[in-house]
Amino acid sequence: MPADSVAIAITGASGAVYATRTVAALLERGLHVELVVSDYGRRLLRDELGDEATIENLIPYLSATYGERVAAGSMTIHSNRDLGATIASGSHRCSGMAIVPCSMKTLAGVAHGLSRSLVERAADVMLKERRRLVIVPRETPMSLPQLRNMVLCAEAGAQILPAMPAFYQLPKSLDDLADFMAGKILAALGFDHELYPPWSGRAGS
Ligand SMILES: Cc1cc2nc3c(=O)[nH]c(=O)nc-3n(C[C@H](O)[C@H](O)[C@H](O)COP(=O)(O)O)c2cc1C
Repeated sequence: MPADSVAIAITGASGAVYATRTVAALLERGLHVELVVSDYGRRLLRDELGDEATIENLIPYLSATYGERVAAGSMTIHSNRDLGATIASGSHRCSGMAIVPCSMKTLAGVAHGLSRSLVERAADVMLKERRRLVIVPRETPMSLPQLRNMVLCAEAGAQILPAMPAFYQLPKSLDDLADFMAGKILAALGFDHELYPPWSGRAGS
């Protein structure tokens, strides 16, 4: 395993394709991904992407969907109930974490430092260690408590990166929208990417 890894949490908000594209893009870069998925995150993966998109089958699913280049990276899958997993400790060399997509329930747990699950604990570790924590919330409309929880996370040092793909790239497919979000997440985690072209001053060019 490389010295540093990147943690990805998938929770039960709509937008599972953002998670699979992000994980695939990190693997394509040869990175080690530490994955943790909530129960509803598992459900949303299958509901939105089909029966092949199970956590147990994730690497074959990513290879079939995004190509063999995902084999450049490696992955550890953690149980969301295992609060003794590596990413639950600040001494573990994990350079950053994205929660993608992030449900309003998990957002609330992170905002209030509850650490009830591995997703929440690992996020808390990122905040206390002053490492990158990227939260990709998805809900609409949003209640005042939800908005306040985003502010709390931002004040604690997280980057709030809402699942809001742009259209000035003139996307032609859902994959283009997922590429845009995954590119934003990689950039927020500090990685270069070619998932969408930089803005050139004109839409679609
Ligand atoms: C089909 C489906 C779609 C959902 N979409 C969202 C959503 O977009 N945002 C959200 O905050 N919760 C959504 N939920 C509700 C969460 O899954 C639920 O609050 C769950 O308890 C979240 O738990 P977790 O954060 O541990 O994954 C959805 C649930 C289902 C079944």
